[in-house]
Amino acid sequence: MTESAVKKIAVFTSGGDAPGMNAALRAVVRTANHFNVECFGVWEGYNGLIKGEFIKMGPRSVKNIINKGGTILKSARSLEFKTKEGRQKAFENCQKAGIDGLVCIGGDGTFTGATIFNEEFGIKTIGIPGTIDNDIFGSDNTIGYDTALNTAMDAIDKIRDTATSHNRVFFVEVMGRDAGFIALNSGIAAGALDILIPERKDSIDDLFDTFDAAQKAGKSSSIVVVAECEKLGNIYGLAEATKNRFPDYDIRVAILGHIQRGGSPSCADRVLASRLGYGAVVGLMEGRTNVMAGLQANKLVFTPFREAIKKHNNINEDLLRISEILAI
Ligand code: F6P
Repeated sequence: MTESAVKKIAVFTSGGDAPGMNAALRAVVRTANHFNVECFGVWEGYNGLIKGEFIKMGPRSVKNIINKGGTILKSARSLEFKTKEGRQKAFENCQKAGIDGLVCIGGDGTFTGATIFNEEFGIKTIGIPGTIDNDIFGSDNTIGYDTALNTAMDAIDKIRDTATSHNRVFFVEVMGRDAGFIALNSGIAAGALDILIPERKDSIDDLFDTFDAAQKAGKSSSIVVVAECEKLGNIYGLAEATKNRFPDYDIRVAILGHIQRGGSPSCADRVLASRLGYGAVVGLMEGRTNVMAGLQANKLVFTPFREAIKKHNNINEDLLRISEILAI
């Protein structure tokens, strides 16, 4: 490799934590060490940049974290960084510490901040997609998504036990913000009767038709997976409408919530995080900036932040169709 474009980099985790962020941090720190690039960790995302909280990191600072959920650097959704004054302070702190490159691990909010920061002050920024939502373009999967999927699937499996025992209908809400990837894939894996996602125009009549068909087919219990930003209505409203239409149904609602963000990262997330952590440091050394490292078709690619935030991976239409066919 020709001479590195960066000598001293800082890495931070920002936005909602995701399993595998620690594995990504480990990969960044150890890759930097391998190539003799100095590396600092920043406490609590952009807030740490504003406060100047940099911690020198070496290979031993990231020992025993590859298997840990959450983020040892802590995370935040910084309001101060949204202001020009906040970003000015952050830049001055970077200058004081001699930081010439930033590795930002997070989701679209994190990358929006990084883009503005780069455009205002010219500091090199590179992103690693860390969010359970999988709502970032430029990587087939985001770090944390696979683990969250498995957590949701395990939880729905448990709900199935009690649903079956009592002949109940369960509405289960999963996370994902505006994206239905967790709902669709965990729903298929857990054998849901129906899956409601914001990307598709769902109708209450279709849902009721599905219940009718299930009844005719002799199903005695069912699970409907609902994405948290489903447009048809909130989960309690959907459960109530269903009860009005099918008064005999014994209906329960379960909101899985933040358990989907926790836990030890899956093998797929650890490997993804390791590859992207390595890729981000190499990208910065090659002089790349304002881009996100991602894996597409198993290859490392760099996507401009603006594209990564604006575009979306499409929901797989085949999966939607398969989920309908297999439900009954
Ligand atoms: O982006 C990750 C995510 O867990 C979303 O799925 C969810 O909508 C949101 O964060 C919850 O945010 P918070 O932890 O701030 O409540």
